[in-house]
Amino acid sequence: MEACGAAERGDVRMCQTVFPAHADHRGELSAGQLLKWMDATACLAAEKHAGVSCVTASMDDIQFEEAARVGQIITIKAKVNRAFKTSMEVGIKVMVQDVLTNVEKIVSVAYATYVAKPVGGGKIELEPVKLLSTEDHLEHCLAIERRRIRLGYEQVFQNLMQESNKEDTFEEEHGVSTDLTHVQSIELVQPPHANHHGNTFGGQIMAWMETVASISASCLCHSYPVLKSVNMFKFWGPSVVGDRLVFNAIVNNTFQNSVEVGVRVEAYNCEEWIKNQPRHINSAFLIFNAVNDSGELLTLPRIKPTTQDGMRRYLGAIARRRIQLIRKCILSAKVDKPSDLWEKSNQIKIWTHEEGAMLSLKVEMQVKIPSHLAFSLLSDFTLRLQWDKHFLTCKVLQAVNEDDKIYYVTSPPMTGHKPRDFVVLVSQRQPFKPSEPYIVAVKSVTLTSMPPSSDYQRSEILCAGFQIYSDSDSSCTVCYFNQVTSGVMPYFAANLTGSSKSIEDTALECMKFLEMNNSKLKLKTDF
Ligand code: COA
Ligand code: ADP
Repeated sequence: MEACGAAERGDVRMCQTVFPAHADHRGELSAGQLLKWMDATACLAAEKHAGVSCVTASMDDIQFEEAARVGQIITIKAKVNRAFKTSMEVGIKVMVQDVLTNVEKIVSVAYATYVAKPVGGGKIELEPVKLLSTEDHLEHCLAIERRRIRLGYEQVFQNLMQESNKEDTFEEEHGVSTDLTHVQSIELVQPPHANHHGNTFGGQIMAWMETVASISASCLCHSYPVLKSVNMFKFWGPSVVGDRLVFNAIVNNTFQNSVEVGVRVEAYNCEEWIKNQPRHINSAFLIFNAVNDSGELLTLPRIKPTTQDGMRRYLGAIARRRIQLIRKCILSAKVDKPSDLWEKSNQIKIWTHEEGAMLSLKVEMQVKIPSHLAFSLLSDFTLRLQWDKHFLTCKVLQAVNEDDKIYYVTSPPMTGHKPRDFVVLVSQRQPFKPSEPYIVAVKSVTLTSMPPSSDYQRSEILCAGFQIYSDSDSSCTVCYFNQVTSGVMPYFAANLTGSSKSIEDTALECMKFLEMNNSKLKLKTDF
């Protein structure tokens, strides 16, 4: 049975049978119990690498795919993807195996960061991880991207919040109030909730948070909430045996079939309790679906915030949802298949896909040029002036390393006002296997040395880029992706419904540019 087989080098595995004590009233493994097991396994993987005690700094991008039922076997695999200075990213994968059929499914994936904390204080510098397989290399590369997103999250979130305050998008006249979804709960941290140093297990706190959030969600859904994802559990400070932990949760927003519940945890020791001096331990935002007795997804009512905090959190939930989509797009080598084929010619296909306030665009081109050459021509953004009329000027501001460069781009006005400018990070990645694409990923960044100026409208590229698949030695498929927010929707909507062929024209120019450069190069080498 593979699930319970021996761990590979560098892995730590935990196997558990799901017993009724681990399950909810539906006989499904509770998310809280699973979070405890995930944290314990991941912490042991971190400590195996560090050789000293480690604490949970955060667990992010947690997705729950499949429910596990009583009697089934759970295998949790954790592995250090990358060691930074004192912290490590640990990848966690949870599988469920049915004892009778042996069928195995993914229950959850997540990434956690642990910080090495030698007993008695002091800091240690971690050894790099030994990379043995292609997958190790890929995860090692992606770990640095995820760290960038993780550590830059607050800044991106604040930027989006400022934008949404300007947009003033609130329209839910008939939404329901969330006042009745406020849940408060308290726990006393006892020795079984903590490690041998007396520090509360991160997994235990996450489990308590999940319980409170799920009660809050059920007050809105009037049904069984099922945890689907958590954007981040971030541990701001430690908690120890003897702490009183106070949990406050409330529904922040709803999105068709899902609801976001926020939970804040504060700790007090006896003295702080009397003086009302809480320590902020964690705040997290959990996304639940609601299902009826037959397991069908329910449509949730829109909500109407009634307080200033409620309004801020309502907008916060939208900003987090946007970041979640961007993160998915940046990190996923296999972008979801867009739903609507909008336009198709012999060599070009264009799709659009709408989700919430996002419009994603995918343009696929068949080009007669070897993939590695297309990659090198498309990853140098200064060459883009030659084919993309949306680029007026383009210069390199900073070469972060060989594969990551920051560019400054100016662009014509979109709606007849000021010209626009962008500061973008362009990251290029080679494939590890021939079946994988070359990737050029583009997203806006802020650079203190290049603040917005009054001459230009500073604009943002949320997530864009190319994937280049090799079709033969002399041809490839180039996929261009771009994700735009509500702000530029009207512009795209006009293009999509009207007769404008601007996207197709740009794609044609791009193909011409690639094929012309290929011919030039061939001429040179033939000569
Ligand atoms: N996510 C991921 N990594 C984080 C992080 C976060 N939210 N916050 C800090 N880090 C990383 C830093 O990047 C740094 O990594 P590096 O050394 O590899 O570059 C490392 O943590 C230490 O950061 P530093 O700024 O020196 O320390 P800090 O004062 O920010 O402390 C913690 C970070 C995590 C140690 C601290 O917040 C803490 O003790 N939290 C509670 C941990 C705990 O007890 N968890 C169990 C449940 S209570
Ligand atoms: P923010 O309010 O900016 O979202 P916090 O860390 O204060 O950040 O809180 C995180 C989440 O916890 C909130 O979004 C909210 O859902 C919930 N929360 C915080 N404080 C309370 C409270 N007093 N009552 C109910 N829910 C709360």
